[in-house]
Parts: sequence; C-alpha cells; structure tokens
Amino acid sequence: MSLKKIGIGIIGTGSIAGHHLKSVQELNNCKLIAMASSSKERAKAASKKFGVKTYASYQKLLEDKSVEVVIICTHSGNHLGPTLAAAKMGKHVLVEKPIEVSVKRADKMIAACKKAGVKLGVIFQNRFSPDYMRLKKAVRKGHLGKLILGNAYIKWFRDEAYYKSSSWKGTIKGDGGAALINQGVHTIDLLLDIMGDVKSVFGKVRTVKHKIEGEDLGLGLLTFRNGALGTIEGSTAITPGYPARLEIYGTKGSVILEGGKIISWDIEDQTTKDNFSNEVSKTGFADPMAINHALHKAQISDFIKAVKKNKKPQVDGKEGRRSLALIQGIYKSSRKRKEIQLM
Ligand SMILES: NC(=O)c1ccc[n+]([C@@H]2O[C@H](COP(=O)([O-])OP(=O)(O)OC[C@H]3O[C@@H](n4cnc5c(N)ncnc54)[C@H](O)[C@@H]3O)[C@@H](O)[C@H]2O)c1
Repeated sequence: MSLKKIGIGIIGTGSIAGHHLKSVQELNNCKLIAMASSSKERAKAASKKFGVKTYASYQKLLEDKSVEVVIICTHSGNHLGPTLAAAKMGKHVLVEKPIEVSVKRADKMIAACKKAGVKLGVIFQNRFSPDYMRLKKAVRKGHLGKLILGNAYIKWFRDEAYYKSSSWKGTIKGDGGAALINQGVHTIDLLLDIMGDVKSVFGKVRTVKHKIEGEDLGLGLLTFRNGALGTIEGSTAITPGYPARLEIYGTKGSVILEGGKIISWDIEDQTTKDNFSNEVSKTGFADPMAINHALHKAQISDFIKAVKKNKKPQVDGKEGRRSLALIQGIYKSSRKRKEIQLM
C-alpha cells in the first residue's frame, strides 16, 4: 500500500469533531489539512480551540486540492448538503451517524457518491470494538447455531441542558427524532449487523420527559428476514441511565454485551470459558462525551485503507442506511398504529 498520507478535511467544529481531529492527528495513513465551520467568527473560535487551520465555510474547504477525504461532523439533518458538494468535487466522504434524518435524503447521498465514483462511509465506531468483533466472528462461524432472538436495549439519560446545548437536538428537522435515531442508532446498527435485515416492525414511540419534538422513549418489536424475533427499547428518559445492552440468542448459545463489553458468553461445545472483563466501558449512557476516540480512530483508519486500496469500507452508505430505515419504520408504525412491512 502506498505510504502517501491522505489529506483530510473535517466539516463541522462541534463536540464530535474533536474526536475526529485527535484520531486523524494520531493516524499515520492520513494527515489533517483543515477544518471548516459555518461563519468567519466560528472559524476563528474553532481555529483557536483546536489549533488548526479552519475555513469559514465547507465550500472553501472543498476547493482545497490537498483535501481528498472529508469527514462530516455537522448536525444529522445537515449531512446531505456537504456530501453532495463533496462528491461533486471528487472528495471521498466519511459521515457521522446517523447517515441523515430520512431514507430519502440518505439515498441521495448514496446515489451522488456512486455517480461521482467516491467512497461513502458512515461512522458506527462500535463495530470496531474488540468484544463486538468477537461476537460477530462467533456468529458468522455458526457457533451460536441458528439465530432466534436479538435485543437492543439503550436505556440512557439525557437532561434538559443536553437538549438545549445545540438547537438541532431532539428536533425532527435537525435530529430526525431523538432517542432512537440519535442515541439508540449505535446499538440498533450492531443488532442489524448480527441478525440481518428486518422484515416487519411494530413500533411505539412517546415523548415522556423532555420538552422536545422527537421521542425520548421508543420500542420496536421486530421480525427478522431469517425468521428470528427481536426487540428494541431506546430512551433518553431513564434515570440514571444504564449501559447499552445487546443480547444475541441462537439455538446453540447466547452472548450478551453491555456497554460494549461481553458480560455473558454461553456457547455449547465451548469447553474453555473465554476470559472477559466484567468492567463496563464508558460509552455515553449518562454523559454524551464519555466516549474516547479509539474506536473512531479504528474506523477512520479502515476508511482510509478502503480509499487507498479502492475497496469497500466496513460501513459504507448502504450499511449506514439500514439502521435509519428501521428507525423510520418504528416511527411510521407508531404513527399508523400498525405493523409495517420493511421488505
Ligand atoms: N459517533 C458518535 O458517537 C457521535 C457522538 C456525538 C455526535 N455524533 C454525531 O455527530 C454529528 C454532530 O454532533 P455534535 O454533537 O458534534 O453536534 P454539535 O452541535 O456540537 O456540532 C455540530 C457542528 O456543525 C456545525 N455546522 C452546522 N452546519 C454547518 C455548515 N453548513 N458548515 C460548517 N459547519 C456547520 C455547527 O456549527 C457545529 O459546530 C451528529 O450527526 C451526531 O449524531 C456522533
């Protein structure tokens, strides 16, 4: 593989942008060229905060020829515009989760990147957690037998101050909803990655605690295409907030992850009990910024390798779209008060 470092531009200078910045600065297959903010004043402030060159608009950043890949860290309802503009300029795009706030908008991003011949990746950093990868490998090797049940529980807490911290949070236009699409989406993505596509969903969502447009409590009853069943419980109204839980049950065994760590590993025919730590990692269940950047770094590295080798990144646009389509299915089912067929 070429030793050339790929030039990176980061669009958006809010909370998550700092994780991307640190990751890019630590990786040796890429180098940071600049960031982009939405005004001269914000660019000045960001440049001071992060100590890097910051353009006053993403259009200016896209004109920079040394930028080959952009990482989009604007709010969720503003991923489409920068993606279309970047694709037009021939830049590869790595976008924060969720891919966008509607499947229609996500499809435009996927089509534009395909047409321009650039890669599109979606950040779902938990796919790169070592314990999750161990579970996935065991499932793919058939160690759990036929999958029969998969559950994702994301009973988190966010206070009013969180929803007031950025004007887009909890809004339909800016966030696409709330607890499921913003917080729950990570574990829902893992559930789909393990269990496969969902055939039909029955959903109920409510806003029970916060003064927001989106839901702070949402449930989904799933029938997977492979015949397995599943449930989703997502919230930002549960105090004090608990680590996200992913439960996978097959005919030959069961594995449970909590806070990204394996807490139960019960598989028939496996005589050696694997070592796993009971320590639950900090994953933002009560504090949105209590995540470190190690998994972001792993995913950015994977994306850069995909660009260099002209291969598919682990989470491309199509993969990133799956969790969004399911969550929109839950919202639709709740509105229509009936089960929704997704395929
Ligand atoms: N992967 C994770 O664990 C994780 C964690 C937090 C947030 N996120 C995602 O990252 C995205 C951003 O979230 P955040 O918490 O950093 O939000 P934030 O509100 O802190 O930051 C968003 C930034 O985008 C900037 N912006 C908006 N429009 C712009 C434009 N046209 N040009 C340039 N900049 C523009 C805003 O000025 C702001 O600085 C969201 O999609 C969110 O879902 C992911």
